[in-house]
Amino acid sequence: MRLALYQPDIPQNAGTLLRLGACLGVEVDIIEPCGFAFTDRLFLRAGLDYLPRAAWRRHDSWDHFLASRPSGARLVLLTTRATQSYTGRAYAADDILLLGRESEGVPEAVHLAVDARVLVPMRPGLRSLNVAVAGAMVLGEALRQTAGFPPAMDH
Ligand SMILES: C[S@@+](CC[C@H](N)C(=O)[O-])C[C@H]1O[C@@H](n2cnc3c(N)ncnc32)[C@H](O)[C@@H]1O
Repeated sequence: MRLALYQPDIPQNAGTLLRLGACLGVEVDIIEPCGFAFTDRLFLRAGLDYLPRAAWRRHDSWDHFLASRPSGARLVLLTTRATQSYTGRAYAADDILLLGRESEGVPEAVHLAVDARVLVPMRPGLRSLNVAVAGAMVLGEALRQTAGFPPAMDH
């Protein structure tokens, strides 16, 4: 399982998602251009000392990201435009969960290029969840289904 962030705008969200990836052992792809620098203090603050423990790769374009995709790995877009709930999908261990840009989601070409689209159902009239919250919810379900969580430790 991987997370991919499409042209993220907000440094705190990217830092939060990298921390999530570090904690759960999930690699993160960042598809540029981003709306912030990787030296941004808000990015560093959100990632804290988890950033060096995160496995993440930057791709300078959507096309380069696609070219780097392991063969057979399916792209699953999280989008409010989907009709399928994220809990109704059968995930595979090598799926890539793709998150849209905070300001605009993803362009139509990306929407059409993915293998599947899922949504977190919400109450009517409300626009969207925070991208890191949506990512954590879907990643949790995908790891649960694929037995992908790190082993639980006795404390
Ligand atoms: C703030 S939202 C972007 C809203 C944007 N207007 C759009 O239509 O995608 C940022 C990203 O969070 C994810 N997201 C937020 N709420 C979601 C939901 N209810 N279901 C699925 N993904 C969601 C999507 O990946 C979305 O592109």
